[in-house]
Amino acid sequence: MTAPLASGRGSGKVILLGEHSVVYGHRALAAGVSMGTTVELEPHDGPTELGRSAIHDDRLAEALAVALPSQGFRVHIHTDLPVGVGMGSSAALAIALLRARAAAEGRSPDFAELHRGGFAIERVFHGTPSGVDHAVAALGGAVLYRRGEAPVPIAMPRLQAVVLDTGEAGNTAELVAGVRSRRPAIDPVLDRLGELVEEVAPDLGDADRLADAMNEAHQLLGTLGVSTPRLDEARGAKLSGAGGGGIVLALTDAPHRLLQAAEKRGIRALCCTLPASPS
Ligand code: PMV
Repeated sequence: MTAPLASGRGSGKVILLGEHSVVYGHRALAAGVSMGTTVELEPHDGPTELGRSAIHDDRLAEALAVALPSQGFRVHIHTDLPVGVGMGSSAALAIALLRARAAAEGRSPDFAELHRGGFAIERVFHGTPSGVDHAVAALGGAVLYRRGEAPVPIAMPRLQAVVLDTGEAGNTAELVAGVRSRRPAIDPVLDRLGELVEEVAPDLGDADRLADAMNEAHQLLGTLGVSTPRLDEARGAKLSGAGGGGIVLALTDAPHRLLQAAEKRGIRALCCTLPASPS
């Protein structure tokens, strides 16, 4: 194979607090994970086309058309993120595409360019994204994010977490639309989800407070109608991302015990240290 011309990477993420409420102007707290997506652009005579891809999605061709010139590249996509479960695989792909394109042009894109381009690509996958996923995909680390404002990187002590995959796939655009259709009746629930972020943000070192807030957020997300019986089985943990399936995020001092328990039940589980920066 010819050497790749250029490559770029975006991080996956987990949302600790504030999914859904972030769509309505509240802040969310999210953290990068060490897993992510890498795009390689190989020079190619003819229309830009997909080469090898670890991500299979009907909307990929449209996303490539938004992200890249129409001619000149064969696009290879590698990822070690679980796809379509709320770990930001589409946002990581968006940022990887934008970084790879800039690298092919001999440039290094600034955050404003990545954020703008990230919105355009994420709209293909999610309709009306708040932007939290691709902000973290670009920045890594822990981020406080409010729609329409620059994301704020925030210091956060390292936490051990386990991500459990329910094996059910939620559709972010449909789940967000479902919540929207229940407004304004559910606005107090969205407000409380936003308040939880404000309560923990001043002291992210208080792991007990953070864990309590995550438990409360899980209950509130259930009230919004985005949880499932499988997601509700988790104790000391919350759904993370749009819901309707996807992942459960559990903070734990004993990740290996939880991993073993998950394995016994045939549940796919990953151990992560939060927050992580793009690798
Ligand atoms: O893409 P997911 O599953 O991580 O969900 C994104 C979080 C939402 O708040 C539900 C939607 C958004 O655009 O912020």
